Amino acid sequence: MPIIAPSLLAADFLALGKACNMLNESEAEWFHLDVMDGCFVPNISYGLPIIEQIKSTTTKVMDVHLMIVSPEKYIAAFKKAGADILTVHYEACSHLHSTLQQIKAHGMKAGVALNPHTSVDLLKDVIQDIDVVCVMSVNPGFGGQQFIEHTYEKVKALKKLITAAGAATLIEIDGGVTENNAAALVAAGADVLVAGTTVFKASDPKQMISTLKLAK
Ligand code: DX5
Ligand code: ZN
Repeated sequence: MPIIAPSLLAADFLALGKACNMLNESEAEWFHLDVMDGCFVPNISYGLPIIEQIKSTTTKVMDVHLMIVSPEKYIAAFKKAGADILTVHYEACSHLHSTLQQIKAHGMKAGVALNPHTSVDLLKDVIQDIDVVCVMSVNPGFGGQQFIEHTYEKVKALKKLITAAGAATLIEIDGGVTENNAAALVAAGADVLVAGTTVFKASDPKQMISTLKLAK
């Protein structure tokens, strides 16, 4: 069964507390939190104070996805705000290995996100150091986009790479995940499914989370 990580980017921000309570009552294990800086991606979302308040509502895993330049500057700040997993973009890190070590030194799990054009092969020499690879199945920056079909090939290749290295890295899929592609993603090797629009625009979000959880 996949881990379900609903993205609060698609929630009603005027009713964020209600959205958090819904997730707390649901089968979702992680809260997926998308931080955008208007520089690495062409959009701005929310940041530290919001994450700190969300953390106060839950004991579930806070999965923070940084779509920002120079993420290494903010490791301590996101730890303080409540991140359990801190994911940085491969494309935003000149010294990825060092950044991953710093994230772990702060007591968090370390994630690396890959844009659709970035090959999973580039992670070969650092896979042992990564707790979660976030495979972007849309171009980062916006919720509600169309799933990129090439993702399946990437997930299969990544799964091979992880198995060959004997690593325990989880594969997370982010963007355009629905009840229609969830099972195929899990079959390809996905461990974690992020879902924003699919969960929060559903008539019964909690039920949708349960449906995604059954994907196999
Ligand atoms: C996109 C974000 C995603 C986004 C997913 O840049 O990283 O986490 O919220 O949204 P959906 O599930 O609507 O594609
Ligand atoms: Zn995300």
